[in-house]
Amino acid sequence: MNAVLWRNAHAISLAPDSGWGALGCAAVVTVGDTIRWIGAQAVLPADLERDLGVHLVNEVDLGGALLTPGLVDCHTHLVYGGHRAAEFELRLEGVSYEAIARSGGGIRSTVNATRTATDEDLFERACKRARTLMSQGVTTIEIKSGYGLSEHDEARSLRCARRVGQALGLTVRTTCLAAHAIPPEFEGRPDDYIEAVCAWLPKWHAEGLIDAVDAFCERIAFSPDQIRRVFECARGLGLPVKLHAEQLSDQGGAALAAEFGALSCDHLEWVSEAAIAAMAEAGSVAVLLPAAFYFLRETQVPPVQALRRAGVPIALATDHNPGSAPLLSPSLVLNLACTLFRLTPEEALRGMTVHAARALGLSDRGVLAAGMRADFAVWDLDHPAELAYWIGHQACRKTILGGVVQ
Ligand code: NIG
Ligand code: FE
Repeated sequence: MNAVLWRNAHAISLAPDSGWGALGCAAVVTVGDTIRWIGAQAVLPADLERDLGVHLVNEVDLGGALLTPGLVDCHTHLVYGGHRAAEFELRLEGVSYEAIARSGGGIRSTVNATRTATDEDLFERACKRARTLMSQGVTTIEIKSGYGLSEHDEARSLRCARRVGQALGLTVRTTCLAAHAIPPEFEGRPDDYIEAVCAWLPKWHAEGLIDAVDAFCERIAFSPDQIRRVFECARGLGLPVKLHAEQLSDQGGAALAAEFGALSCDHLEWVSEAAIAAMAEAGSVAVLLPAAFYFLRETQVPPVQALRRAGVPIALATDHNPGSAPLLSPSLVLNLACTLFRLTPEEALRGMTVHAARALGLSDRGVLAAGMRADFAVWDLDHPAELAYWIGHQACRKTILGGVVQ
């Protein structure tokens, strides 16, 4: 088995219950896309090839650079057409996000731009965004649909997301967010739209387009009763669910999602104590999205202390989308999580690695340990807290996907 030895790393393993899990002068042996051995360089087996049963084909000296698990961006809306800069201007004049959505703008305006974009245009733009994330240490991303809102355009968005993963070689998990908003053809008929989504889901699933099912539970989107029908359909297909819940108001979405054993509940500014207890019981991850909080100039901070007390794992993501989070900077998200939500830098990094992986149902990544995927980020930094400290610093030297330097 051909192996690569990565030497002289300041490894941040994020092993459970070990703080940062820092190993000052570490070595890692990878075989193909998997970590075979990690530990202090001083205790590296003397006869590596014999002791590990591998054939060493390459050695990389990392020169003391910081080595972390590759970042996992577990909540993005990367596939869409157009932009919403005019809406940004309106909001700065005092018009609210909800008011814009109610007057037919917001998500709907991106739906128009997405439907009129060609497949190639959608693909090129999504690839460019994904490449930008990769250049900053991201090795796994989730991509949601949700700007097509028709049988044709949702499928097109999901296919585009799959194609991004194939083209760039990074792991892309696709999430169907057809229940994101009511499309114009179904104006005033949300229940009919939900029925249509439930009829489309099995077809998309049969085509292998969906890894999870999501919905937007909000006054301007869908009620818990409507989402329950979508979740029942997902359950019937054996698909896991997640939910945009309690972003702008408490609609009881997180408790509903927990009832369905959701992988994650996302946003959560307004989540109640009772719903947090239900999430803890169900093992759902809390995905916090500080960039959307910041960009919408929200003031209700998610109850981080209550999530910690309940033992709910906290993940972080960019939420990249044209309406509420037009950013492609994972390190800024780490910084915002610390400055706005008072996470510690260590919690923030776990939030974009191991807990984010869990929010996608992936248990083979997010920590540096034997048997895990060889997805790494190499940083020109001395201390891991710097990951959440610098802003606009471009500290990522290399991204390594499945043992391959990008
Ligand atoms: O995660 N909250 C709903 N969905 C997106 C924003 C959608 C949009 O405004 O285009 C979010 O913030
Ligand atoms: Fe979102």
